[in-house]
Amino acid sequence: MQRFATRIRTAIASATGIDAAELRLERPRDASLGDFAFPCFVLAKQLKAAPPAIAADLADKLNAELGSDPSDRIEAIATGPYLNFKVDGARLAEAVLFGATTAGADYGRTDEGGGKNIVIDMSSPNIAKPMHVGHLRSTILGAALYRMHELLGYRPVSINHIGDWGSQFGKLVAAIDRWGGEYDIQADPIPALLALYVRFHDEAEAEPALEEEARAAFRELESGVDGQVRATWRQLTELSLAEFNKTYERLGVEFDLVRGEAWYEDKLQSTLERIEATGVTEESDGARIVDLTSIRKKMAPCLLKKTDGTTLYATRDMAALFSRWDEFAFERCLYVVGSDQKLHFEQLKGVLKRMQLDWEPRVEHVAFGMMRLPGGKLSTRAGKVVFLSDVLDRAVEEAAAVIADKNPDLAASDHGAEIAEQVGVGAIVFNDLKRERIKDVVFQWDEVLSFEGETGPYVQYSHARLCSILRKAEASGEAPGQSGAAPDWSAVDDARGLILTLGRYPDTIRTAAADAEPSHLTQYLLGLCREVNSWYANSRVLGEAPGTTAARLALVDAARVVVRNGLAMLGVAAPTEM
Ligand code: ARG
Repeated sequence: MQRFATRIRTAIASATGIDAAELRLERPRDASLGDFAFPCFVLAKQLKAAPPAIAADLADKLNAELGSDPSDRIEAIATGPYLNFKVDGARLAEAVLFGATTAGADYGRTDEGGGKNIVIDMSSPNIAKPMHVGHLRSTILGAALYRMHELLGYRPVSINHIGDWGSQFGKLVAAIDRWGGEYDIQADPIPALLALYVRFHDEAEAEPALEEEARAAFRELESGVDGQVRATWRQLTELSLAEFNKTYERLGVEFDLVRGEAWYEDKLQSTLERIEATGVTEESDGARIVDLTSIRKKMAPCLLKKTDGTTLYATRDMAALFSRWDEFAFERCLYVVGSDQKLHFEQLKGVLKRMQLDWEPRVEHVAFGMMRLPGGKLSTRAGKVVFLSDVLDRAVEEAAAVIADKNPDLAASDHGAEIAEQVGVGAIVFNDLKRERIKDVVFQWDEVLSFEGETGPYVQYSHARLCSILRKAEASGEAPGQSGAAPDWSAVDDARGLILTLGRYPDTIRTAAADAEPSHLTQYLLGLCREVNSWYANSRVLGEAPGTTAARLALVDAARVVVRNGLAMLGVAAPTEM
């Protein structure tokens, strides 16, 4: 596709004298009009003519040039103010289908990112609390953005900004001091710590002294003294991380850097000084704040230091931001964090703006909606928590049941359990990325796991089916490379729309990365699978004339590659049978 676009842009450039890099091609509103469209409005000023006249004039000029090679013809058609282009069907099929299969896993890879750093703050659960479904969304979204940027030639850096600091650790330490002996923290740390945390809040209501103990403990922690409090905190951190890692492993997610809030501890003072130095801080009731009402009327100030001298979530995030900028000079710094923290990120950006740092726009809050399970919202305080590992387990269980029903032989085979894991986890991941990220995700088990409709299993199943066609071709000796027949591209004339869709995969990745919106890709994959399945329902692939079979198998193979690659970008496995 890229090749055709480049040829078209070069031709327009030489006919008009405008730099090819400035020419944008669009997708015609109606696919029957052509494969690319060039809006002539943009030339009206320079050429001092009406767009339709420009289109007509250019069509004549360009057809002479683009039609010169009859085997590689691109036809230019003026349609009102638009100039549409239609690529020769055989060349299109050959370029797109062989382009995808030859590139394989690298289809869509470019170096346009120029190795620039993209920092992705993702997952970031809190120590001593269960990783909840919000962290799951952050992990899944962040990992997809990571892979897409990597494909585009950027250097992504994932950072797990673990919540391992803050006044809640004072509370936990106080709770462990009092009642630690009653819980088996080692055996199953997260539920035990969660219970202690809930108990602290229950009992603190009746006994305010508890709050004071907690504050004292956190003060000691922040003072840097390496005593009992710090030892307990360190133990909490290690136990929690070990638990989180189990989930990351299941999702196939790794981090370049695991830097909890505590990592920035020795950078807090210099961070405060850096902000102070620009003269934007002020005293308010004994606390240090940055007033942000000049950014937006009524916006709450950013609180950097409390009256008692302790720092806050925002202080540590400011330290992290400066540290990241100093270390990576990032092109983008993406915070994949729930939309409930909108204000927090506005405040961080507000401080940067007040400091007049020109890299402020590179800091982006990639906000997402809630994930809700039937039964409502989830909260740690009330102890009403759905454990993430339970969600994954349940999905895998249900997937196993679906597979046993649809394909009992497979379910009973050696890799039945593995495929159930891939389908179950894949269903959750896909469901999470399916809609615009800002929307809430609601869970309906039967919906999420269905092999039909807009689901991960549907896409996985479509992929498995393409694999099965290729396996049958191998068995009948018709596979590409076996039959030796040259493809007769006219046999895929009716699949032009599908071929164009396959050709648009690289652009889909590009916009998904630019918008930090993996749903562009999930929606693309759903559409692609619908198209390929309906084409297949009407076209016989195997047992046709060798040239016909070769062309159609090339289409099947390219579709297989694109679906597999797309799923891989999302972090969803693509089993070859289901
Ligand atoms: N630990 C926080 C939470 O669970 C999320 C942290 C997001 N990242 C950040 N740099 N603030 O709510």
